[in-house]
Amino acid sequence: RQSVDSPLYPLLAAAADYYRQALKSHPARQAAVDYLKGRGLSGVIARDFALGFAPPGWDNLLKHLGGDALQQKAMIDAGLLIENAETGKRYDRFRDRVIFPIRDSRGRVIAFGGRVLGDDKPKYLNSPETPVFHKGQELYGLFEARRHNRDLDEIIVVEGYMDVIALAQQGLRNAVATLGTATSEEHLKRLFRLVPSVLFCFDGDQAGRKAAWRALEATLPSLQDGRRARFLFLPEGEDPDSLVRAEGREAFLARLEQQARSLADYFFQQLAEEADPRSLEGKAHLATLAAPLIERIPGANLRTLMRQRLAEITGLSGIVPTPTAGQTPGEH
Ligand code: GTP
Ligand code: MN
Ligand code: MN
Ligand code: MN
Ligand code: MN
Repeated sequence: RQSVDSPLYPLLAAAADYYRQALKSHPARQAAVDYLKGRGLSGVIARDFALGFAPPGWDNLLKHLGGDALQQKAMIDAGLLIENAETGKRYDRFRDRVIFPIRDSRGRVIAFGGRVLGDDKPKYLNSPETPVFHKGQELYGLFEARRHNRDLDEIIVVEGYMDVIALAQQGLRNAVATLGTATSEEHLKRLFRLVPSVLFCFDGDQAGRKAAWRALEATLPSLQDGRRARFLFLPEGEDPDSLVRAEGREAFLARLEQQARSLADYFFQQLAEEADPRSLEGKAHLATLAAPLIERIPGANLRTLMRQRLAEITGLSGIVPTPTAGQTPGEH
């Protein structure tokens, strides 16, 4: 799947070292340290996640690592440098940002995320796709979660770097984040190879709720019997980071136990909002929406049970989706 011995790995490792060292000793480090402290992070967690700092300036990393032209070319390939297409001038991609190294399952640094220290835009900057970094496949925090516990039984999927880290800081060491992409079938396949249970906990906003439904759709093809997915919806305006810091670990865990919904419950509740099951037309619509999705579930028992539930809701028995009904609008 990946270029095994890519020369980009040592380069990315050296960049991670540089950023980490800069957070410890660069003259401009204090703003970054204050920022991380302000977000409630301890030095221990910062070290666990190998957080770093890209100092202000256009060529800190370039000067530190960029010896000859060949090396600079590799730094461009690794996403560390940007080359201006017109002038040919090369400069650091990450400047004046807190740095989140993204590691693959073996712990190799493959990319970076960088956050501004204030409210500037763009808030986050990520490495581009490179020969060793494929956004749609990687999950931030998975290496760290597995390193902490080889025998996880549930993984929490959240939206952001800071959600992963804030949960870890509170002792919830099993969170991962997609990297600015929607949760994909590929992500779910990876997760279910490691754990039988996945909990989605996205932001309490419109984007988060939309992401939840997309995650449900991406989960369906992985739902063999014996696996489950759950969804925790947060109060409006909260994300896992803000909530776990506001209410603490115990309250967050209690919320999870009391409020997490099974995929099947979320599925039928959500569809009932789109198609009113109190009218015959609504029932017909609901059946049309639900049936092709249910048929994507590989687990024969769950598939049968969901067909039954659909039949109970609609009064229709034996809803057989036509082959072409397998796609809903906007689906891939
Ligand atoms: P914080 O303000 O640090 O708590 O960020 P957040 O994770 O809560 O961000 P938000 O909920 O706005 O967005 C969720 C995720 O989307 C982030 O963690 C990023 O991965 C991504 N994201 C947000 N803003 C940007 C952006 O400006 N550019 C890019 N590339 N990604 C972003
Ligand atoms: Mn590859
Ligand atoms: Mn959000
Ligand atoms: Mn946040
Ligand atoms: Mn958020």
